[in-house]
Amino acid sequence: MTRLSETRAGPESNQEEYERLERATSKLDPPFALVDLEAFKSNEKDLVRRAAGKPIRLASKSVRCRALQQQVLGGDGWRGTLAFTLPEAQWLASSGFDDLVVAYPTADREALRKLAALETDAITIMVDSVEQLEFIDSVVGSRVAPIRVCLDVDAGWWALGDRVRIGAKRSPVHSASQAASLATEVSGRAGWKLVGLMAYEAQIAGVGDAPPGHPVRGLALRAVQSLSASELSERRAAIVEAVRAIAPLEFVNGGGTGSIESTTVETAVTEVTAGSGLYGPTLFDAYRSFRPRPSAMFALPVVRKPSKGVATVLGGGYLASGPGDRSRLPEPHLPEGLRLDRQEGAGEVQTPVLGRIAGDLRVGDRVYFRHAKAGELCERFDRLYLIDADRVVDEVPTYRGEGRCFL
Ligand SMILES: Cc1ncc(COP(=O)(O)O)c(C=O)c1O
Repeated sequence: MTRLSETRAGPESNQEEYERLERATSKLDPPFALVDLEAFKSNEKDLVRRAAGKPIRLASKSVRCRALQQQVLGGDGWRGTLAFTLPEAQWLASSGFDDLVVAYPTADREALRKLAALETDAITIMVDSVEQLEFIDSVVGSRVAPIRVCLDVDAGWWALGDRVRIGAKRSPVHSASQAASLATEVSGRAGWKLVGLMAYEAQIAGVGDAPPGHPVRGLALRAVQSLSASELSERRAAIVEAVRAIAPLEFVNGGGTGSIESTTVETAVTEVTAGSGLYGPTLFDAYRSFRPRPSAMFALPVVRKPSKGVATVLGGGYLASGPGDRSRLPEPHLPEGLRLDRQEGAGEVQTPVLGRIAGDLRVGDRVYFRHAKAGELCERFDRLYLIDADRVVDEVPTYRGEGRCFL
């Protein structure tokens, strides 16, 4: 787990940041979640810089707050949303968002029927198999306009004669010929319009290449990621060429916060995706080439002192999805020098924090935590307090605060 001293607090020290947040939020009663706008905007600019001129599609699952998504999409360098469910995309479209690509296949019959009943260019759905096409055709029957579709292609790295497969288990489409045959299938069907191609290299974009305390693992990871990036660059180019021969694609999407540099240099890729880098959660502390500033946090109140050197805060068990190891736990961020208890981790109703300054904390003090992932934090809070310098300048609802729970 990343140590506090290794995190970058921007121009100010952790102590200054703590005091500033305390001044800004003194009137609020924890638990609450906040976004530090200065850090958020600096992260946003850094993502645009790293994309080196290619537009960034915003991964909405990693933000889950319409006001912040609107703000980011209104800035230079960003174009369109990578949504995470079809109902979410439809909800966003109904409030003025456009260019929405649903990143994961859908089996939501009601949402599909709604999609088929509207003539809209705003939403593109994802497929990676004929089975999904058949399912959707059987659900929606006729439609007022062709359904816009994007092909999801596997961006994993296969080694040792394909016996070792590294990457997320997503699409079954791996080769240019498989992609071409699915593209032919889509194009040959009435009621479908193939407009995009996506290949997300999770093994690079979502796996930090410098895990703290594991230098040898870091070396191995970097070697695999470098081999994977060069293999993917060639394969993705061949796939795009093969599919473009069948359908005139509007976009080719790839990458994520952790892979922007290697994805954006591929000429076959027309846009990259990013989202997590805006909030700067702990899983993104472990990259060598960039370090987002922690901008999203949640504050919990100290409610008791079980013993000297231990303070216990209310709540805190906001674990991130994934393999269920320690990296998914939230991390006490401020004041500096606190850590979780190995036995208890982060609890459903209370979380002990240990460390040299835990003994100084008093009932009613706050501890600011960082989440391991980005948007999942917003499933725990109905609003985000936006902090500018040492003031709360706004409060904006999360998806949850708007009564929306998509996943
Ligand atoms: C399809 C896809 N693209 C891109 C991303 C990257 O998003 P982020 O920048 O938030 O890590 C993800 C994250 O899981 C994803 O599933």
